[in-house]
Amino acid sequence: MNIEIKKNSKFSNLVNFSQNHEERVHRWFKIKEGYSKELVFAIIKQLDVKEGYIVDFFNGSGTTSLAAKEIGYKYYGFEINPFLHLLSVVKITDYNKNDIKNIISTKKFILSDYTKVKKVNNIKLSILEKVFRENLDNILKVRTIILGIKSKKIRNFFIIALVSILEDVGYSKKDGNGLKYPKNKQAKEFVSKFSAQTDLMLDDIIKNNKKNIKKSRVILADSRNIPKRYINEIKNETSLIIFSPPYANCFDYSEVYKLELWLSDYIKEYKDLSVVRKQSLSSHLNKHLKDYNDYDLLINDIEKLKQKKLWSKKIPSMLNGYFFDMEEVLKNAFNILKKGGHCVIIVGNSAYGGHIIKTDVILSKIGLRLGFSKVEINIARKLRASSQQAKLFKNGEALRESVIIMTK
Ligand SMILES: C[S@@+](CC[C@H](N)C(=O)[O-])C[C@H]1O[C@@H](n2cnc3c(N)ncnc32)[C@H](O)[C@@H]1O
Repeated sequence: MNIEIKKNSKFSNLVNFSQNHEERVHRWFKIKEGYSKELVFAIIKQLDVKEGYIVDFFNGSGTTSLAAKEIGYKYYGFEINPFLHLLSVVKITDYNKNDIKNIISTKKFILSDYTKVKKVNNIKLSILEKVFRENLDNILKVRTIILGIKSKKIRNFFIIALVSILEDVGYSKKDGNGLKYPKNKQAKEFVSKFSAQTDLMLDDIIKNNKKNIKKSRVILADSRNIPKRYINEIKNETSLIIFSPPYANCFDYSEVYKLELWLSDYIKEYKDLSVVRKQSLSSHLNKHLKDYNDYDLLINDIEKLKQKKLWSKKIPSMLNGYFFDMEEVLKNAFNILKKGGHCVIIVGNSAYGGHIIKTDVILSKIGLRLGFSKVEINIARKLRASSQQAKLFKNGEALRESVIIMTK
C-alpha cells in the first residue's frame, strides 16, 4: 500500500498555537509546542466527523479537548506532565455561578492578605532567586495562600492563574530545550500581573457558556500504557484521534516546564522529575534510555548516523526508543478507533549530523503495518533547522511539519 505525500498549505498557519493567542480560555497559557483550535475544526470538517469521542493522546495544554467541548463533542485527553494536565483540567472545567462568586471573593482575600503571610512554603528549586529576583517574595506569599485554599476547584483555578504568568514576571525565557536569561528581558510586577490574569480568566469563564458532554475528561496517564478502564470506555466509540506528539528533537518537556512544575507543587524534590521523565516519550536524552535493538524501519538511518559526528552518543538509542514508543501509541489508536475512523498526527521531522529523520514517513509506515487502510502525509510547512544542521543539508533539503491522516 502506498503512502500519498502532498503539499497542503491549508494547514500551514494552523499547525502552531499563535492563532489561539486571542482566543478565550486557550489564551491563558501560550504553549509554544501547541497547535490552533482551528486545526481541529478544519480536520473535523474535512473528515466529516459527526459523533463519537475525539481523543488526544498528547493533550498538552488541552487545545483538542477545549475545541471538542466548544462544538459539543465528547472527548478524552491523555497527558503525563502534571502541570499541563492541571492546566487542561482548569480550562475545560464547567464553572457555575457559585464557583464564580467564590473565585471573586477568594481573589479579594488573596490580595488583601498575602502581605500578612509570615512563613512561606519553600521550594527547593535552586534557580528561583535568579529567575524572579524582586518578585520572588510576593510570589511565594501568594502561592502559600493559594495552596491553603480548601476547595480543590478554586485552588486549582488560582494555581493556574499563578503559574501561567511565570514567564511574564521572571527574567528567564523558554528557549529550545530549557530556560535562557536574555539580557534585555523585563519582568512585570507580580501582584498586578496576577490580578490581571485572574480577571482575564474570570471574564473568559463568565462569557464561555459551553458545557461538557457527559463522560468527557482529561487524564494524567502515559499514552503508551493507558489503563484498561479508559480504553474500555472509548474503544469503538472513537471517531477521531488527533494529536501532536513530542518531536524526536531532544526537547524535554519536564525541563522546559520546570518552573511551572515546581511552583504548582507537583515537584517537591529533584528526584520527582525523574518520575515524569520516565513516563515521557523517548524523545529526549534526560530519561534513562534502554539498550534498544535497532527499530526495523530505522535501520538505514541508524547506519547513516553511525558515519556522522553526533553531539551525543545517546541519539541513536533515543531515536530507536522514540519509534518503539510511537508504535505502542499507534497500537492504542488503532484499537480504540471505530472502523472508518481517523488518526491524525501533527509532527515535525528532525535532523542529526545533517541527516534528516523522516518521522512523518516512518510513522505512516508503522500505521500501514498496524492495519490502517489509507495513509496520507500533508506537508503543512517547512521547519527551521538549527543553523548547524542547516549548513549540513544537501541541496534543497529541509525539515518539514506534516499532518498525517490515517484511516482505519
Ligand atoms: C507537542 S505537545 C502537545 C501540545 C498540544 N497539542 C497543545 O496544543 O497544547 C506534546 C505533549 O505530549 C506530552 N507527553 C509526552 N510523553 C507522553 C506520554 N507518554 N503520554 C502522554 N503524554 C505525553 C508532553 O508532556 C506534551 O505536553
